[in-house]
Amino acid sequence: MQEKNNEKILVIGACGQIGVELTAALRAKYGNENVVASDIREESKLIKGTGPFVILDAMDAEATRNLVKKEKITTIYLLAALLSATGEKNPKLAWELNMGSLRQILDLCVDEKIKLFWPSSIAVFGPTTPRENTPQRTVVEPTTMYGITKYTGELLCQYYNRRFGLDVRSVRYPGLISWKSPPGGGTTDYAVEIFYGAIKEKTYTSFLSENTYLPMMYMDDAIRATIEIMEAPAEKIKSRIAYNLSAISFSPKEIAESIKSQIPDFKISYAPDFHQPIADSWPQSIDDSVARADWGWKHEYDLEKMVADMLKNLKEKLKKG
Ligand code: SER
Repeated sequence: MQEKNNEKILVIGACGQIGVELTAALRAKYGNENVVASDIREESKLIKGTGPFVILDAMDAEATRNLVKKEKITTIYLLAALLSATGEKNPKLAWELNMGSLRQILDLCVDEKIKLFWPSSIAVFGPTTPRENTPQRTVVEPTTMYGITKYTGELLCQYYNRRFGLDVRSVRYPGLISWKSPPGGGTTDYAVEIFYGAIKEKTYTSFLSENTYLPMMYMDDAIRATIEIMEAPAEKIKSRIAYNLSAISFSPKEIAESIKSQIPDFKISYAPDFHQPIADSWPQSIDDSVARADWGWKHEYDLEKMVADMLKNLKEKLKKG
């Protein structure tokens, strides 16, 4: 059902893993014409023909300002970013893109009274953080450039809220698992690649060791969380530092076992690489009780339900080619 047609939304980074699904969900809710999708890349075929699309460099302040004014944008979802693994390959660009885009959008949102969603990540935590049931408030000493940009961004968002009254909201996404659009450049990407390996070749070599536990979430839950935090009454958003968000925690061995229950001849092997130390610096599981208490967050997908849905949808997608 469509609603709230006075909203005009801009999604920046709409062709990425989260972007394509968030754009589709927002269009279903607010009307196709009321959600402008943008990306520096060419339009993804997953959103093509479903609403307006503009090529936009998230670091280009002037182009973004012109677009926002022309389209009378009221809400922005800023998803453009370099993730953890790509960020370690090019830390300078990770800082420039992740910080440069956020800084210019924060100023624009203050000037034009726009509401902002900006995603943070479990990557804000580092090796000195308690690794199990990591609390909302704890030691935060990230060791990846991606994590450093995310925590700096959280502090900036909180600053702009306190100083300028900007309505900016954020969550710390865990690793996100989806079948529609592939992830790009993250340490948690193995948990998506494993499904492609299982269906296509019945085998997969994990770049993380068998007992590396990480916090994860199915994309359906992540999209719902994003829209729910944005739609919550402002007084419920008591933290303008990003909220911990949690659903599932598993290791490569555990997800492989779960896949094997449906594809019995699936085989996994392990060849840890440069992703391993990044994963080892992150929490294994997250305590998100503050998000649950403040704005009613609740996940739906556990490991079994997620694996069943992934295998069903990905098999169909790969059959169609
Ligand atoms: N999925 C991200 C990554 O692995 C974490 O935010 O980089």
